Amino acid sequence: MKNIVVVGTQWGDEGKGKIVDLVAPHFDIVARYQGGHNAGHTVIVNGEKFVLHLLPSGIVHPGKRCVIGNGVVVDPTALLAEIDELSARGIDFDGRLAISNRAHIILPHHLALERTSEQRRGVRQVGTTLRGIGPAYEDKIGRRGLRAGDLLRPDRLKRQLEEIIGEANDILRARGAEPIALAAVVDDLLGKASRIAPFVTDTALLLAREMTAGKTVLFEGAQGTMLDIDHGTYPYVTSSSGTAGGATVGTGVPPTAITGALGIMKAYTTRVGSGPFPTELTDAVGERLRARGQEYGASTGRPRRCGWFDGVVARYARIINGLTSVALMKLDVLDDFETIDICTAYRLGGELVEAIPHDAQDLEAVEPVYETLPGWRSSTVGLTSFEQLPDNAQRYIARLEELVGCEIGLVSTGPDRQDTILRSGSELVGWLR
Ligand code: GDP
Ligand code: IMO
Ligand code: MG
Repeated sequence: MKNIVVVGTQWGDEGKGKIVDLVAPHFDIVARYQGGHNAGHTVIVNGEKFVLHLLPSGIVHPGKRCVIGNGVVVDPTALLAEIDELSARGIDFDGRLAISNRAHIILPHHLALERTSEQRRGVRQVGTTLRGIGPAYEDKIGRRGLRAGDLLRPDRLKRQLEEIIGEANDILRARGAEPIALAAVVDDLLGKASRIAPFVTDTALLLAREMTAGKTVLFEGAQGTMLDIDHGTYPYVTSSSGTAGGATVGTGVPPTAITGALGIMKAYTTRVGSGPFPTELTDAVGERLRARGQEYGASTGRPRRCGWFDGVVARYARIINGLTSVALMKLDVLDDFETIDICTAYRLGGELVEAIPHDAQDLEAVEPVYETLPGWRSSTVGLTSFEQLPDNAQRYIARLEELVGCEIGLVSTGPDRQDTILRSGSELVGWLR
């Protein structure tokens, strides 16, 4: 039995798409368990680039089955646009995609509400992707959401939407915003429902059946540990559980069935949107990381904030997710730095702290404690064996392993599938047999 969760260990965009694509051939099913089209997962196959938002990255592998679990929020327009775009590029969906009948649907009022709530927060705004993700999860937890299974019952849809949108419109009017026109939403959704319905099923049962038959599942996390609603830098987080535990709740697969967690970790750190980021570099070094790493959002195109590797965050991610292996991404981006800093602890009010303060203001106030390592000043781009890496790069990796407390089973040296070092003898390589 081999069912592995791939999870972001920082603030997202660590390179989850590349790794899910790389390891997908060794699993039978790829399942998304949370988030929505706020995600942007880049997969590059023989120079051809795909950016997946809602669909699991396994979809680019012909024949691989993909599941959108109950923990995901689905925007029908975004879903159909993504299916159409990929179909036009030759990807076949026949019998390959299953969407949970319990996944919640993103509706136009979610986007409208999000715009008003971000405006009201002013300087404290989260800097969300404005895709309606947070408000859709609010309706879910508020027990008034519309679910994918409801799309199969068009006779009841109008009444359900009347209730949901009626309540949202009261709030929108109170906030001085334009209310949502119910009739247009009903028409639009009825049109899309007939296209989405064939994919909708009980995916928890589907997964249970497949796993009983010996099939293996790769769970694809979106966002990252520090954006997790519970364990991240609240309130500057997304509204779902992107950590490994989310995989069970978000698909209906029991925790006992999950056998490992692969943490995706950039060799430095980035963040999009607002919120504390202890190792952020707002100087020329940060600019250099952004330029070399092409750090611009795959979903929104926003420049990503950049900084050094944060060992406190990485250790926390190992603990919260129970990481059994780590994929270290974008090592090549550090190739021409003379020296490289690693944050090993924080100082808060003169005290050394090794835990992440729960309070965003405290985290904003911490000063990182750095250790400086010599750079390697030679190209690692596209290297495929660990021994080829310059000594200082090997030392950097060894130090990160020590700080994280987990093996680094894979080192990524470029965006393409081939630009990858697999470390023989690692737990990760064991999963690929
Ligand atoms: P995700 O959201 O975690 O899937 O990551 P994104 O796709 O948003 O961002 C990762 C970016 O880094 C993408 O543009 C990838 O093509 C790119 N990438 C992934 N691995 C590497 C690597 O090892 N080196 C370089 N230079 N780029 C990489
Ligand atoms: P992937 O899966 C990076 C950030 C947003 C914002 C916060 C809340 O590609 O790693 P939301 O729209 O989710 O309510 O925004 O979370 N965010 C991401 N940052 N990568 C992502 O996804 C993200 N998804 C959301 O920028 O700060
Ligand atoms: Mg991304």
